[in-house]
Amino acid sequence: MEAFIIEGGNPLRGEVTISGAKNAVLGIIPAAVLCACTSKIENVPDIKDVNKMVDILEKLGAEIYREKDTLIINTEKPIAYDVSEYDEETGQMRASYYLLGALLGRYRKAIVPLPGGCNIGDRPIDQHIKGFQALGAKVVIEHGHVKMEAPNLKGAHIFFDVVSVGATINVMLAAVRADGLTVLENAAKEPHIVDVANFLNLMGANIKGAGTDVIKIRGVDEMHGCEYSVIPDQITTGTYMMAAAVTKGNVLIKNVIPKHMEAITAKLTEMGVEVREEDDGIRVIGKRPLKAINVKTMPYPGFPTDLQQPMAVLMAIARGTSTITESIFESRFKYVDELRRMGATVSINSRTASITGVKTLSATKIRTTDLRAGAAMVLAGLIADGETKITDIVHIDRGYENLQENLRGLGAVIRRISE
Ligand code: UD1
Repeated sequence: MEAFIIEGGNPLRGEVTISGAKNAVLGIIPAAVLCACTSKIENVPDIKDVNKMVDILEKLGAEIYREKDTLIINTEKPIAYDVSEYDEETGQMRASYYLLGALLGRYRKAIVPLPGGCNIGDRPIDQHIKGFQALGAKVVIEHGHVKMEAPNLKGAHIFFDVVSVGATINVMLAAVRADGLTVLENAAKEPHIVDVANFLNLMGANIKGAGTDVIKIRGVDEMHGCEYSVIPDQITTGTYMMAAAVTKGNVLIKNVIPKHMEAITAKLTEMGVEVREEDDGIRVIGKRPLKAINVKTMPYPGFPTDLQQPMAVLMAIARGTSTITESIFESRFKYVDELRRMGATVSINSRTASITGVKTLSATKIRTTDLRAGAAMVLAGLIADGETKITDIVHIDRGYENLQENLRGLGAVIRRISE
C-alpha cells in the first residue's frame, strides 16, 4: 500500500505540461483491434488504466511496444474475442467495456466480463447493450460476462435514453464495421468522443457528426493502421487549474485545448480566480477571497462530473455557502466524509452538497475513495495547515501521470511512501 504525505501551505508556481487524455486513449487502444493492422499512437499517458488495457490486449494476442509516450499496436495476428479469463484485469477499470464494441466489430462476437471502475453509483450498461442489439447482436449476460454474437452486424437508428460517454463510444466501435448506416441520437459530445472518432476515421472508418448529439456512421469493409496523437486530458488540466487556484498559486498549464476547459474557466472566474489564455497554454492565478458559487454537473459542454470533487475543495475555503448538484452519478459524494475530517462544513441533501467555507483545512490522515476523489484529497492536502497523509492512492495512479513529480516541480512538498 502506498500513501502520499503532503506538507500543506505552499502556493504552486511554474509550468506543468498535460499528458494525453485517459478516457480518449482507453477508447483508442481497443479501437486498434478493429482490423489486422499496425497503428502508432502518440501522447499516451503512463497510468495504471492504460497499462492494464495494454496488458489485456497483449493477453488477447496483440503485439504492443511502448517507447516513452508512444504505443505501437500490432493486431496482425488473430486476437482472441473471449476475454472472460481476464476478469481480474477488466474488473479493475470501466473502459474494459470497449472491448465489447471493438471485438464485435472485428469478429462479430465477443465475450467480455462486466466492467469495474470507480464506485460512484449505479453504473448500468443497458444503453451499450441496447445499441449492440439494435445492430443485430444477440446478447446474453451470464456468470458475470457479456456474451454477444452478430453474424449479420447491420447499421441501425439508435436513440440513447440517457447521454452516455461509454455507450456512444462503444456502439460507434462496432458500427464502423457494420453493414450500412448507423445513426446515434442523443449521443454524448465529450472531447474524447471526437478523439476516438478522429482515430477511427484515420483507420478508414466513415463517421460524421462526432461532437454533436447525432453521429452518423457508414460501415466500411476495410480498415487500416494509422498514426495518431491523443488530445490532452481535460480532467487533468482542470485538476491542475484548481490546484493552482486553491493554493493561491500562479501556474502556466501547457499542452491544453482551452475550448475544452470553458465550463471550468467560467466557474473559476466566477469564484474570483484569474484564468488567462496564453500562447501555449492556460495561466491560472489564485486570488483571495474565493467567492461561493453553485455548480451542477452535466454532460459536455457542461461542468464535468469528474471535476466536482476537486471543485469541492475550493468551495471548502470560499467565502459563503456553495452548492454542487451531481446529476450524473448519484453516489459521487463519498469523499465529503474525508473533507469533513479536515474541518470542511458540508451537508448533503439528495444529489446536492452544500459547502460553507472555512478559513483553512486541518491536516490529518485521509483516504482516497475513487480516482477523482483522490485528486480532491491531494488538493485538500496542498492547503491544509500541516502534514496530511493520503492513503489508498492506487486510485490516483489509475488516472494521473507523474502527479507527485509534477506537483513537486510546482513547489509542493509531497512524497510517496510505501507501507
Ligand atoms: C465515463 C468516464 C468517466 C466519467 C463519465 C461521465 C470512461 C472510461 N469513464 O464513464 O470518467 O465520469 O463518463 O463523464 O470514459 N448510464 C446508463 N446506462 C448505460 C450507460 C450509462 O444509465 O448504459 C448512465 C450512468 O449511470 C450515468 C450516466 O448514464 O448516470 C452517464 O454515464 P456514462 O457517460 O456512460 O459514464 P461512463 O461511460 O461510465
